[in-house]
Amino acid sequence: MDVYDAITGRRSVRKYRPDTVPEDALQRILNAGRLAPSGHNRQPWRFVVVRDGSRRRALAAAAAPHNHFIAQAPVTLAFLGYLAFEGAPAPDARTRGSWTWDMYVRYNVAIAAAYVTLAATAEGLGTCWINNYDEEAVRAVLSVPDGYALVCLMTLGYPAEDPAARPRASLASLRFDEIVKPAGDEQ
Ligand SMILES: Cc1cc2nc3c(=O)[nH]c(=O)nc-3n(C[C@H](O)[C@H](O)[C@H](O)COP(=O)(O)O)c2cc1C
Repeated sequence: MDVYDAITGRRSVRKYRPDTVPEDALQRILNAGRLAPSGHNRQPWRFVVVRDGSRRRALAAAAAPHNHFIAQAPVTLAFLGYLAFEGAPAPDARTRGSWTWDMYVRYNVAIAAAYVTLAATAEGLGTCWINNYDEEAVRAVLSVPDGYALVCLMTLGYPAEDPAARPRASLASLRFDEIVKPAGDEQ
């Protein structure tokens, strides 16, 4: 599938068929995340694959009610950021300018997660990015140790719905040429 087709065809899917996600497809999808760019090529992402039904139900219980479809998707992915790699600043020195080390690692991991959504689309699979959960409860379900940021969960499976495209702002309203014009000054 062409990358533009994946970008335009991707939807957040919240209803899934029970069919198993084949391991070879999952490998290709996670490999897309592995190939994402990262600052200093540090590749701080880690991927947790959850297929076990009772563990997925525990993740669903740790999530906000509107995210309980986690239990229905055959796979949940958790995206972690490894904070303590070689060369990482000491925990008490993890700020630079307006951003923190934790934030920096998180947006690196978010790039890998975005790649995963597109690769899943190319495989005919649906995903939904999930950020609304009790973080401590999710960390406990997945035995996430200190030194890892929990960036997001993501459901994965064959779609049982065909959601319409959600609206987006026009490109003209998002683009500045050369300099940023004050709000309300757009032509
Ligand atoms: C950072 C982030 C957090 C999100 N959190 C949730 C969530 O907790 N639950 C959910 O159902 N969808 C969640 N979404 C999906 C968005 O609702 C969805 O991407 C948006 O409405 C646009 O729809 P589309 O993905 O189908 O284009 C999240 C998406 C992103 C990028």
